[in-house]
Amino acid sequence: MLHITLRQLKVFEAVARHLSYSKAARELHLTQPAVSMQVRSLEESIGLPLTEQLGKRIFLTEAGREVFHYSHNIAGLLSDMEAVLTGLKGLEHGNLKIAVASTANYYSTQLLTRFRAIHPTITINLDVTNRQSIIAQLVANQIDLAIMGLPPEGLDLQTESFMENPLVMIAPPTHRLAGKKTIPLRDLVQESFVVREEGSGTRGAMERFFREHGMSPRLELVMSTNEAIKEAVQAGMGLAVVSLHTVLLELETGRLVILPVEHFPILRHWYVVQREGKHLSAVASAFKEFLLTHPLPPVSLRSRRKSPPGEANPA
Ligand code: PGA
Repeated sequence: MLHITLRQLKVFEAVARHLSYSKAARELHLTQPAVSMQVRSLEESIGLPLTEQLGKRIFLTEAGREVFHYSHNIAGLLSDMEAVLTGLKGLEHGNLKIAVASTANYYSTQLLTRFRAIHPTITINLDVTNRQSIIAQLVANQIDLAIMGLPPEGLDLQTESFMENPLVMIAPPTHRLAGKKTIPLRDLVQESFVVREEGSGTRGAMERFFREHGMSPRLELVMSTNEAIKEAVQAGMGLAVVSLHTVLLELETGRLVILPVEHFPILRHWYVVQREGKHLSAVASAFKEFLLTHPLPPVSLRSRRKSPPGEANPA
């Protein structure tokens, strides 16, 4: 008879999914030594090593892969049980577990605030992270819903589009291209770009766009937040492609401008996403319904495209 605890399995499941003690610690809000200790005591109870470290990388042993398979299923079942029990308590005592792409965070708080005004007693767990991490959480059945760009096919996810997400090219108002009426793509060959980290949906869409147009621009500066990118562009470190949702304030105050580059904006959409077959709690299905029936007013590109001082506003 094995003497193992659900907690040990939960911790090991996170380590095995990330293949990283530090990422698992961050996700579970634990310290790294606490995570290592749980995995060590699980290994002691089982009597076999579950992970091995080669250089800096962690690998699962054969026993580790078996335990991961079962712990992953157990974690999913526990989460489903929690949703069913929460459902029995009714919508007003529900807890909404949602992850949103960092770019969607520019409007998701507004949506959650409006939803909570209708259901003031619900609790909300919001994780703001990038596309790759959201997909991992959906697949691991750790969240009810996600708000993100279109996920890749073949993952057993259910997706519904609820809003447009135009990607625009931004520059400081003093940039040499800022006054132009239209900018051919070839004029960007000499420009360097500030880009989001690998795993960002915005970055993926931008790379796809350039590939489709036979361009390979210089992606010299990589930053993991939209805020850092906006600061860098304002400081003249390069151009960037960002969601229009992230720059409304800077366009309003004239700290950034949109460059009218040909074939822009890149048209994307926002999706509400859940695992196929996921039993949504009352609060999660109410939020999804709210999202699909109470869209925010679309962000319009024309009224945002400010010309630098001295130029007529094309809008
Ligand atoms: P991200 O979000 O660039 O912040 O990952 C956008 C998306 O999911 O497409």
